[in-house]
Amino acid sequence: MTQHSGGGRPGRSAVRRVGVLTSGGDAPGMNAAIRAVVRTCVSLGIEPIGVERGLHGLVHGQVRALDGRSVSGIIYRGGTMLRTARSEEFRTAEGRAQAIETIRRVGMDGLVAIGGNGTYKGMAALAAECSVAIVGVPGTIDNDISGTLYTIGFDTAVNTALDSIDRIRDTSEAHERVFVIEVMGREAGFIAMESGLAGGAEAVLVPELPVNMDELCESVRRWQADGKKSCIIVVAEGAASGADVAACIERGSGVPARLTVLGYIQRGGRPTARDRSLATRLGYHAVRLLAEGQRSIAVGISEGENVCACSLDKAITGRRLLPPEMGEIATVTAG
Ligand code: F6P
Repeated sequence: MTQHSGGGRPGRSAVRRVGVLTSGGDAPGMNAAIRAVVRTCVSLGIEPIGVERGLHGLVHGQVRALDGRSVSGIIYRGGTMLRTARSEEFRTAEGRAQAIETIRRVGMDGLVAIGGNGTYKGMAALAAECSVAIVGVPGTIDNDISGTLYTIGFDTAVNTALDSIDRIRDTSEAHERVFVIEVMGREAGFIAMESGLAGGAEAVLVPELPVNMDELCESVRRWQADGKKSCIIVVAEGAASGADVAACIERGSGVPARLTVLGYIQRGGRPTARDRSLATRLGYHAVRLLAEGQRSIAVGISEGENVCACSLDKAITGRRLLPPEMGEIATVTAG
């Protein structure tokens, strides 16, 4: 990964007309990223083009011209003004050929794609088949993209989950019940671990770590005997089904257990300050990198909170893993 300073007076831009799209699951902060992309384009004399409904819109030619004013009043809004979709067609060579035809017809020589792993894979395939310069911007609540410490939307999703955990803690304590809270994350447990640690969850089940239900039931019995008044188990959807976990705990420990599935609540809502500023920085650097002549890359945020870039191929081959100590910390502090 190389750091990108992006400052200073830019020379002549390597691109003249840049498309911007959001694809895959929406994430709070995508609008802030679109805004930054469009306004940075305008400042560099680049024409910004909005592609609607992500890769689906690229296949079907759903494009419109944007300008600085068309992105006013969106920085604080969740969702995405360009809409989003998951496209099966784009996975096929025929679908991508249609997308390449859209790019040619519109005259785009650069493309900023804001999305998660699926979007990045689609962009890597496109980059191998046509000459458009592409920058991927990590936008997903899952935080599971390699090449960046944080993805746009993760912080908001964690805070949304945390707010629910705090509320459920009240009723868990009042009724002395176990509560299982299922959060999103099919492949990765970042939302579960971060919200679980911050909410003082008694246990956090994630896809990256083995789940031992016998041990968990034993812990619930011990916590009951110790006089613990409430018990929250946060489960990432990819680790186990929340319903199965709740049933198993009730059977195995004898303590009443209830389930809350947070679902799509985690995807919406006003982005946090952190997500808005991350999205703004990444959107700005994405355009600056295109203007400098970079192609087939992904931007991200590195350990030192600097903006960095790596190749799209690298971003899709690596897997971002939970720091191993987090599981240990969750267990030790569960008490
Ligand atoms: O990738 C983001 C995500 O919200 C995952 O956490 C979740 O499993 C998935 O999208 C749900 O996808 P869909 O919107 O296709 O139901």
